[in-house]
Amino acid sequence: MTTRKKPLDLRSHRWFGDSDMRGFGHHSRAAQMGYSRDDYQGKPIIAIINTWSDINACHSHFRQRADDVKRGVLQAGGFPLEMPAMALAEVFQKPTTMLYRNLLAMETEELLRSYPVDGCVLMGGCDKTTPALIMGALSMNLPAIFLPAGPMLSGQFRDQKLGSGSDVWKFWAEKRAGNLTDEQWAGFEQGIARSPGHCMTMGTASTMTSAAEAMGFTLPGAVSIPAADSRHARMAADTGRRIVDMVWEDLKPRDFVTSAAIDNAVTTVLALGGSTNSVVHMVAIARRAGIPMTIDRFDELARRTPLIANVRPAGKFLMEDFFYAGGLRALMAQIADLLALSERTVNGRTLAENLAGAEVFDHDVILPRDRALVASDSLAVLRGNLAPNGAVIKPAAAERHLLRHTGPAVVFADYNDMVARIDDPALPMTKDSVIVLQNAGPLGAPGMPEWGQLPIPKKLLAEGVRDMVRISDARMSGTSYGACVLHVAPESFVGGPLAFVRDGDLIELDVAARKLELKVPDDELARRRAAWIRPAPKYERGYGALYQQHITQADQGCDFDFLEGTAPTSEPEIH
Ligand code: FES
Repeated sequence: MTTRKKPLDLRSHRWFGDSDMRGFGHHSRAAQMGYSRDDYQGKPIIAIINTWSDINACHSHFRQRADDVKRGVLQAGGFPLEMPAMALAEVFQKPTTMLYRNLLAMETEELLRSYPVDGCVLMGGCDKTTPALIMGALSMNLPAIFLPAGPMLSGQFRDQKLGSGSDVWKFWAEKRAGNLTDEQWAGFEQGIARSPGHCMTMGTASTMTSAAEAMGFTLPGAVSIPAADSRHARMAADTGRRIVDMVWEDLKPRDFVTSAAIDNAVTTVLALGGSTNSVVHMVAIARRAGIPMTIDRFDELARRTPLIANVRPAGKFLMEDFFYAGGLRALMAQIADLLALSERTVNGRTLAENLAGAEVFDHDVILPRDRALVASDSLAVLRGNLAPNGAVIKPAAAERHLLRHTGPAVVFADYNDMVARIDDPALPMTKDSVIVLQNAGPLGAPGMPEWGQLPIPKKLLAEGVRDMVRISDARMSGTSYGACVLHVAPESFVGGPLAFVRDGDLIELDVAARKLELKVPDDELARRRAAWIRPAPKYERGYGALYQQHITQADQGCDFDFLEGTAPTSEPEIH
């Protein structure tokens, strides 16, 4: 039986329990906001960490949802305080939101630490917001529950359903190939994003919110509900009600984010055909919980996990269809034998209890295992002399014939070089070439942007080529597809072997053998290494300087080295 906390045990009691001069300051300022002591005294104070912003389209419903959460908190006898945090708007923030994931994680942790908070609701969904909020909450380890933004409704253009990202790349390739008019392109632009909510393909947002539910961080069934569905508002109020009890029960993230819960999240991501970005984020999340996870765990679990979500980019449907087909609970029930079902979740119940009764209503969207899109290996970790510390590929989203391929490299020194030359008709590029982009990693870009789906040259598009082997130390949007080798570690900017590839070098990719080899003799590689000059750092001051001093490589999760682990941090003294 759980021992419940008493009001005097609440963390916020340290701020509001004394009648000394400091206590006077806290009470008088609460009064200034219109609260009497009856509003908050002896009640769990719940921080609603809200990543709403006018610039984040995916979170445009979050003001309303924060009110829904508050309703739930108040009904359950808690006291809600909304605290805004950095929004990380995927499409608008440059050079990439990934540069700022750790900043939001730090902000989350320190908001929780420095204020009178007993528990929190984490409101996120747009790509990096989910891992950032969870990382911060794991490090602070106060009772916490995640409120997912929910996917937006399916896009629509004429008679076609449109998926975020995935269809952009597809339509853009057709436009570059001359198969789409400006007028059609404009109509497409107006129809692809037509409601609040995050990208509704199996991009990083749907992947990471699903990972959050699978590791026990949300109410069961929460993540698949479309943002515009009234059930989403009701789920938000339920979330508010539940966090109050979590405080009394003292149920904290590190109580349920165990090694088995991380495996549950990774297995679920693999069955969904989730984003390659999840590799970086899950390693970082696990390490915040004190679990020494490596990227190889993805590869191990991929070998036994079927991809059964028929959702773009790997499949055909969209998240709205996935919800109507039964949602994440139904999918997880299909792979129950691959999950650790006794793991606890935020509602205090086990995964087995939360999955009980889950049904698939559309077997074309959530496929039976004997009709899996791929039986295993929806994601693979490669190694070789080109990626000694690993690289990642999503074989399920690539043309099959490219999964075993040797071809000559065409190398671009950085993104600008690629943009300037990729369509040059004189470039010695054929469909068998291997396109290589350097200096696109955590330090080189900086921020490891989603550049990894390198463009196919126009002249090859016109010939009908739609996929080629492409290699970089960048990431790739979860909505992207193609034979793109990503996250090459160490990155070229710090002298990883990718820095030494030259035009015409043969590169061998063999996904079945998990191999990525640069076919250049060792002594020649050693000569190139000796002649290499490390590029100058990108930042002289500010957050960028802190970032470049402490960011870890992709295989380590791109966390700041000083934020990893679970070393105790003292509670603030209250003076
Ligand atoms: Fe927000 Fe895709 S832009 S999730």
